[in-house]
Amino acid sequence: MKSKDATWLVLFESKSVDGTSLVERVCQTVRKAVSAGHLRRGDRLPASRVLAIDLEVSRITVEAAYGRLEAEGYVVRKVGSGTFVAIDAAPLAQRHLASMTTAVGLSARGSALVATGGCVDSRVARAFTAGFPDPRAFPIDVWRRLIAKAMRGDPAELFSYGDPLGLPSLREAISAYLFQSRGVRCSPDRIMVTTSSQQALSLIANLLVDPGDNVWVEDPCYPGARTAFLGAGSSLRGIPVDSDGMLLPSITSVPRVIYLTPSNQYPTGATLSLERRLQLLRQPELKASWIVEDDYDSEFQYQAKAVPALQGLDQHGRVIYVGTFTKALFPSLRLGYMVLPPSLVEAFVTARTTLDGHPAYLSQAVTAQFLSQGHFSAHVRQMRRLYKSRHDCLIEELGRFAPRLERSSSAGAGLQSTVFVEGLSDMEFARKAPQAGIELRCLSPLYLNSAKRQGWILGFAALENETIRSSLRRLGKMLR
Ligand SMILES: Cc1ncc(COP(=O)(O)O)c(C=O)c1O
Repeated sequence: MKSKDATWLVLFESKSVDGTSLVERVCQTVRKAVSAGHLRRGDRLPASRVLAIDLEVSRITVEAAYGRLEAEGYVVRKVGSGTFVAIDAAPLAQRHLASMTTAVGLSARGSALVATGGCVDSRVARAFTAGFPDPRAFPIDVWRRLIAKAMRGDPAELFSYGDPLGLPSLREAISAYLFQSRGVRCSPDRIMVTTSSQQALSLIANLLVDPGDNVWVEDPCYPGARTAFLGAGSSLRGIPVDSDGMLLPSITSVPRVIYLTPSNQYPTGATLSLERRLQLLRQPELKASWIVEDDYDSEFQYQAKAVPALQGLDQHGRVIYVGTFTKALFPSLRLGYMVLPPSLVEAFVTARTTLDGHPAYLSQAVTAQFLSQGHFSAHVRQMRRLYKSRHDCLIEELGRFAPRLERSSSAGAGLQSTVFVEGLSDMEFARKAPQAGIELRCLSPLYLNSAKRQGWILGFAALENETIRSSLRRLGKMLR
């Protein structure tokens, strides 16, 4: 998008209708341009002086807006060369914002949501698509049998409206699994089955956060969580992470919500130490904050047994535990869940009835059988062995083919592994990677406030060892 073609002015709300500051309105203008697909990752934004003239605001205002957009991860500023878009517009946003005119018709909440850029998921697993399980290893015959069995069940239950918390037999199976495997303490009537962790995060953000509320997220942070909380209008504070997970910062203002991935920090792979778990739960200033524990792939720990969930240590009903079947089963299943503190159950049930009501009962019934008949634990055991061999292959061959890449010291879990690289821009490099048949998810856009490190999140679980080797060889060649 060029400056001076009036597009900026069309997107710009020149008057504040709801007390939004000028800096925020400039930010919204850039976010809209990104969401609508007018600007793509890597595009250069106009110099602050030029945009200030176009929008008839001061240069200081534009500078402040660019600074805020950088903190949010929308743009990256490079000394001497300019300000560049750091994220891609979501296909969703492109679909809904086919023209700028429609963007102008959105509500403030709608604009904030679309301006996040949405969530972008790859549809096919190639080297090194992040976060994909291997669909070829799924026991499809067992699943087929369970579908047939579920279809022979009581049609009065299967074909009518269902419980907004989810199918009771699935909640019972999840509750037993979470207690045995993760030390989560809950009864089935506190479990809400969702279509995904993402739906759980959206519900949490919309029910617990007011626009402008402070939300702490890890820095770097999982983009799905960032999107959910920014979409609800919250003000995000990125909390630095080291090899023991999120550091407890000085508390200048109390957050409404703290979001974290304690078992396998996304994307660094750190595990939150017991000391920090207790610190977080016992900090008196944080006793009114909700803590969201995203436990998205704890089934896959390769070096040690998974540390029990934070939720199991919570004495005061402040932790909301979020889980998903995306990694352990398959992404298109669209089933996740959350364990709610008792005080929130009723509110979430009511809110759920205004959305989709509940996920399809058939897939819930099949998943319930899959868990209760022991297929789930057998499948996870088998996948853990398979993914560990692929993880080990990736780590071994990284040193051989791409010694320039530094591994995250905490890696050893999940379906992906993060590597750091010095002396080049991860995003510029990633744009060239498809020429070598490689997909790279970049690390630097995941930072909010901390100094950005360059690197990539390399998915390995869906790749045969031979594919891992040949793709690393090509990546190494490009890096030389
Ligand atoms: C940190 C984190 N949470 C949750 C998910 C999965 O979520 P969903 O259940 O929305 O597919 C992912 C997937 O990549 C993730 O990385």
